[in-house]
Amino acid sequence: MNKDQVLKMLEEVKYPGFSRNIVSFGMVKDVFVDDDSVKVELRVTSTDDNIKKQLKQSVESRLKGADFKTVSVLITAPEISGGQQSGGNGAATEENLLPTVKHTIAVASGKGGVGKSTVAANLATALMKRGFKVGLLDLDVYGPSLPLTMGITEVPKVLPGNKLLPIKKYDMELMSFGFILGDDSPVIWRGPMVAKLVTQFLNDVQWGELDFLIMDLPPGTGDVQLTLVQKLALTGAVIVTTPQDLALLDVQRGANMFNKVNTPVLGIVENMSYYVCPECGHRSEIFSHGGGERESKRLNVALLGRIPLNEEVMAASDKGQPMTIYNESSELSKEFMNIADQLIAKVTQEA
Ligand SMILES: Nc1ncnc2c1ncn2[C@@H]1O[C@H](COP(=O)(O)OP(=O)(O)OP(=O)(O)O)[C@@H](O)[C@H]1O
Ligand SMILES: [Mg+2]
Repeated sequence: MNKDQVLKMLEEVKYPGFSRNIVSFGMVKDVFVDDDSVKVELRVTSTDDNIKKQLKQSVESRLKGADFKTVSVLITAPEISGGQQSGGNGAATEENLLPTVKHTIAVASGKGGVGKSTVAANLATALMKRGFKVGLLDLDVYGPSLPLTMGITEVPKVLPGNKLLPIKKYDMELMSFGFILGDDSPVIWRGPMVAKLVTQFLNDVQWGELDFLIMDLPPGTGDVQLTLVQKLALTGAVIVTTPQDLALLDVQRGANMFNKVNTPVLGIVENMSYYVCPECGHRSEIFSHGGGERESKRLNVALLGRIPLNEEVMAASDKGQPMTIYNESSELSKEFMNIADQLIAKVTQEA
């Protein structure tokens, strides 16, 4: 048996809670085969002992099944990178992918179309309005939305050394797969390609000095999410949901994923939460009230805010403006400022 054959077997071992295998995510650092004994070195971000135990057991049982008498599994922390003050997991920061970024916040959801991109863009703008230096990174390889929602048609400059310069708009730094892929390129990336693309994006974008980098993720718990948490020690995640999805265990799934990889969940944003009639100011709860509070209590994470449904969001987006710029005085914009203030308090507390 040689190293390559062992690697093939390890491709059958999945990371707990994910569909991707440990080889394709580069978690297998090395394999040493010596007759009927084998030693596997894994690089794992999570500090959750259960995850490590499960990984160890899965590797052992797969290789013992292949007639190895002794199987030893060594788990080490990766040369992880992240913002200088980021990372609630205390991982070593030997190689820092984002040395100029202080806080990295991922905006995630279990389900599509709940308003992640809307929340990410407005949060970024709200933080900028509070005087912070902010970047917004659209990591949705499947359906990038930044070009549209921020009205960007230009292509990022490529600097010497193949570094990409983010596009500046509204005093923020913006980057999206959509800036590079164009509107009409077929988006057919499969797992390993997605991992590579995300890694390249984290490596090759030259951000300025930033207080916050907000990352807009695709829905679910897939390749982008796993690559991200493997590569960066995120400051935390914000989970977006709608009232009708709260019941679907959707939020719980998202929170679980981040907990598994030791990324703090900073809170939940309930979007399209209620409707305020523009004519008479009457506020109607479209779905049953109180779901967000209940869910946040149950999961023991903060409910950062409830964003109303507002038809102006569409008009703002058509103009390439987040609502927090298009109509500052709307209730929606005020709610985003309030959420930004809570995030500021949270990350400065933890720093
Ligand atoms: N509070 C709101 N009021 C009105 N419209 C909204 C609101 N939030 C989001 N929308 C609209 O709902 C649609 C979906 O929002 P968005 O693209 O932000 O969701 P998403 O979670 O990023 O979707 P995907 O999973 O496809 O990336 C968009 O057309 C957006 O303009
Ligand atoms: Mg989106």
